[in-house]
Amino acid sequence: MASLLRVQNLSARLGAAQLLFDIDFEANAGEVTVLVGRNGAGKSTTMKAIMGLVAEVGGVIEVDGRNVRGLTPHEIARLGVGYVPEERRIFTDLTVAENLEVGRQPKRQAARDAPRWTVERVCELFPKLAEMLDRPAGQMSGGEQQMLTIARTLMGNPRVILLDEPSEGLAPIVVQRIAETIRALKREGLCVILSEQNLHFARAVADRAVVIERGMVRFVGSFTALEADAEIRAKYLTA
Ligand SMILES: Nc1ncnc2c1ncn2[C@@H]1O[C@H](COP(=O)(O)OP(=O)(O)OP(=O)(O)O)[C@@H](O)[C@H]1O
Ligand SMILES: [Mg+2]
Repeated sequence: MASLLRVQNLSARLGAAQLLFDIDFEANAGEVTVLVGRNGAGKSTTMKAIMGLVAEVGGVIEVDGRNVRGLTPHEIARLGVGYVPEERRIFTDLTVAENLEVGRQPKRQAARDAPRWTVERVCELFPKLAEMLDRPAGQMSGGEQQMLTIARTLMGNPRVILLDEPSEGLAPIVVQRIAETIRALKREGLCVILSEQNLHFARAVADRAVVIERGMVRFVGSFTALEADAEIRAKYLTA
């Protein structure tokens, strides 16, 4: 299977500091790839670099065989990459429905082959949102805001979705809901890239794993292989 996202020799620097060194991995449609690593390892920087949010980036970033390095975040989004950053970015003064509208991409600009999302369909995925459509998003709990952020990103009809620590700071029951959602996105054929500090949440959803430490890739393989590799886990991951 040809990979939908290909990252090769990806480097990133911020002024004098080099944050990423030759990051290599590929990710497929219908699979969840977890970028896992400790605090400050470079997971978020990798996602930002893919999304065109880091100015100084080298190497190859391809989506469905098409180079996206050097494009603007907006252009990259139009080519089918959705991004849910660590800090949830909802518009608190807008209603839930208005937040979803903000994420909608005009049909002709949406990536071809991407699943078609409508307000109705995202509400099937997140029934809670359906009950809250007319309420200001600022009234939502942290978990609901995370769901809204994911739902709004889906409205752009991405083929690749980058989820930066979506389970962070959420109650276990909400984390379970997020895991179910990720499995549903996988069934839709999305290429899901997830970042996590440890393996707990990843275990429920991940097919493949990329271990990052100090801006370098230390392991790439199946999630099962990572679970079996006690040495890699002890060296580069938090229990
Ligand atoms: N704006 C910035 N200015 C300077 N250094 C930065 C900046 N953003 C990130 N870094 C550094 O880059 C490195 C990688 O950070 P990054 O945020 O990618 O880590 P992470 O793996 O996402 O960590 P976490 O799990 O805490 O979110 C860290 O050493 C961090 O201090
Ligand atoms: Mg991070």
